Amino acid sequence: MAAAGLRFDGRVVLVTGAGGGLGRAYALAFAERGASVVVNDLGGDFKGYGKSSSAADKVVDEIRAKGGKAVPNYDSVEDGEKLVKTALEAFGRIDIVINNAGILRDRSFVRISDEDWDIIHRIHLRGSFLVTRAAWNHMKNQKFGRIIMTSSAAGIYGNFGQANYSAAKLGLLGLANTIAIEGRKYNIHCNTIAPTAGSRLTQTVMPQDLVDAFKPEYVAPLVVWLCHESCAENGSLFEVGAGWIGKLRWERSLGAIVRGKNQPMTPEAVRDKWEKVCDFDNASKPRTIQESISVLSDALSQIESQGNVSMNATRSVVSSSVDTTGIVGRELATNVYTYTHLEPILYALGVGMSTKDPDHLKFLFEGNEEFCCLPSFGVIPAQTSMFDGVPSLPGLNIDLAKMLHGEQYLELYKPLPTSGQLTSVSTVADILDKGSGAVLLIDVNTYCGKELVCYNQFSLFFVGAGGFGGKRTSEKAKLTANPPKRPPDAVISDVTTPDQAALYRLSGDWNPLHLDPSFAALGAVVPWENILCCVGAMRSCLELKKNRLWHTRVADEFWAKQLVSVPNLDRSVWIPWSVSSVINYCLPALSGFKKPILHGLCTFGFAARNVLKQFADNDVNRFKAIKVRFAKPVYPGQTLQTEMWKEGNRIHFQTKVKETGEVAIAGGYVDIVPALAKPAQEPLMTEGLQSNLVFEEIGRRVKEMGNELVKKVNAIFQWDITKDGKTAMQWTIDLKNGSGAVYQGPARSSADTTFTLSDEDFMDVVQQKINPQKAFFSGKLKVKGNIMLSQKLEMILKYYAKL
Ligand code: NAI
Repeated sequence: MAAAGLRFDGRVVLVTGAGGGLGRAYALAFAERGASVVVNDLGGDFKGYGKSSSAADKVVDEIRAKGGKAVPNYDSVEDGEKLVKTALEAFGRIDIVINNAGILRDRSFVRISDEDWDIIHRIHLRGSFLVTRAAWNHMKNQKFGRIIMTSSAAGIYGNFGQANYSAAKLGLLGLANTIAIEGRKYNIHCNTIAPTAGSRLTQTVMPQDLVDAFKPEYVAPLVVWLCHESCAENGSLFEVGAGWIGKLRWERSLGAIVRGKNQPMTPEAVRDKWEKVCDFDNASKPRTIQESISVLSDALSQIESQGNVSMNATRSVVSSSVDTTGIVGRELATNVYTYTHLEPILYALGVGMSTKDPDHLKFLFEGNEEFCCLPSFGVIPAQTSMFDGVPSLPGLNIDLAKMLHGEQYLELYKPLPTSGQLTSVSTVADILDKGSGAVLLIDVNTYCGKELVCYNQFSLFFVGAGGFGGKRTSEKAKLTANPPKRPPDAVISDVTTPDQAALYRLSGDWNPLHLDPSFAALGAVVPWENILCCVGAMRSCLELKKNRLWHTRVADEFWAKQLVSVPNLDRSVWIPWSVSSVINYCLPALSGFKKPILHGLCTFGFAARNVLKQFADNDVNRFKAIKVRFAKPVYPGQTLQTEMWKEGNRIHFQTKVKETGEVAIAGGYVDIVPALAKPAQEPLMTEGLQSNLVFEEIGRRVKEMGNELVKKVNAIFQWDITKDGKTAMQWTIDLKNGSGAVYQGPARSSADTTFTLSDEDFMDVVQQKINPQKAFFSGKLKVKGNIMLSQKLEMILKYYAKL
């Protein structure tokens, strides 16, 4: 009986409810590893009636027969002191308590009697409290203790018919959380498990083969490990079963502030912010009550500081540390972009489309039958929202003046409208520390009405702002992908015109530096630090603009403070710049280029349309997403060479400057939808579904004997039948109203239970090749609503087994 590895020699373990099921497996496992075990069990039935010593005795005998040390205890956990006394008397100490004893009194909520409520709480919650409290001071004095609480998925997620049990089981988690905090300094750890195992408790709901498969032995090793002296885990919750273990934690949405300074808080404001309150994007994972509450004091100070935005609110031009808390997840700006067909056409011309190419006509002529918008146009409404928001980030301690547009990701959910109004909402997705700089990831969701049309991720690099100890990577970052190591499958060359930037800027990037010769001179003579100072001033300008002071004060501030070192420039042209202009301004400066360059997003537009033409037949429905990294600038007039590789539905590409061979866009890819894929909102595919026949037959029977079935079943079942992973058909069997009905489509009044499964699996269930429980546990059958009613349904389905 000597298992090597994690040993428990000299330790005394009390396992409650160890006469069978999980408790027995724990007792055996601890004993096998050298522990002395108190095998407690009251020995009643699974509802808590009766008592007997035989359950505990049997397990003690088993342990002793294998050479282990064990004593029985037959008390109820409600006599916690007595259980611990047994340990002390038999073995002189108590090190580990496994609170496991349990019973069930399942009843639908309204039918739970006081007694059924109380006994469940007494055995599970109060019992665990009493046993643990009895052991506490011994553990504290010896500065060692390990405690396990047994919760349940029913408590974590809720389960029909188990309101009493769910409440007690989640109560145990609360108990464990506090014990973990109070015990920490005495080396007393308390963790909680939510197991799934075949036992007499689960026998009532699981088919026998699953009871056999989900062995308690696949849970016990977790308990053993959590109780070992070398395990530092404390205050955690685990789901465990079948040899799998997962850890759970809380996730909290960023939430929203719903009141203004000196304003009452209204339910309407709550309603209006509801989406944001419930939005789990960028959710936090608070681990302590302190972390949980800190958001409230942040909120208070944010509300208090409203209306005090000053020009000095952002930090100085040169700074090196980033305080990321409170920035990640912050909403930056909401911008409305209104356009007619002119903007998409202008954009198409800006990225080199031409009437010389007949298949470009549909992007250039609003009278064309197939007139549409280039997918890459999706960056245009988004960029304003993004750049407007960045300067107003409170607490952002990075230098906007040293910002470069490093990467771009765009994903489309439907073709862009050719005119209309798009609303873009920008959020800080993450901040990364790259050593030499910081990367700010900004997500921009663009909506047409309420519908999400596209999503952009801007990746902005802040030179010199790294080294603040932040993380280097982010799961939220959309990554570039290297092209395959073989010659490209296609190469398309485009000669840009000397006016390419002049044309492209009309799509919304007004930076004169892309075409003004005096800027070229500026780039040549002014050290880049000076240029960056100008950009710093631009940030101030934008703040002023936000405060509607743009016209009155901006020129003075801007010119007097920042541009003194740049003579001979037409000052008026600077005023309407966006910060995006500034970014492209920095690029040549930082890279040491002395001429105006083409907008990076213009080169991006060239590449995107080439991929669209070469691999998606210019069908904008098939363009899903694009990612690029801006590697080197391009001068207007140079030749772009887009090299493309097809790998399944992903088209890798890079764009080189033909004249120099330099890669301007690196690691790019476009994800396309295969030609034959059906559009996203296809009509339901009802043809050829075998299940249709069964439902029709059930329909005929319900007509004949509906009255009787309604009396017996009294429930509405909705079926979502899938084919190839998509819902292909919905059926409703209404055995609640009138004399019953079976009809296509979702339940007209709400369904009691909704089943989702594939056509094939449905047939397997009907033909009894697989029983519904097994289909459920193997994930083939998904059930929403009242799962217990499915038992009644089985009767009806079995009836048609011979179909
Ligand atoms: P089980 O019925 O085989 O084991 C429970 C044991 O506790 C029984 O031997 C019973 O006699 C004993 N017991 C009941 N009341 C007692 C009392 N007042 N004092 C002392 N002993 C008492 O059931 P199983 O499945 O092994 O359950 C163990 C624990 O795991 C329970 O707390 C249960 O709620 C929990 N659990 C089990 C799941 C499973 O899938 N088996 C799922 C979720 C939780």
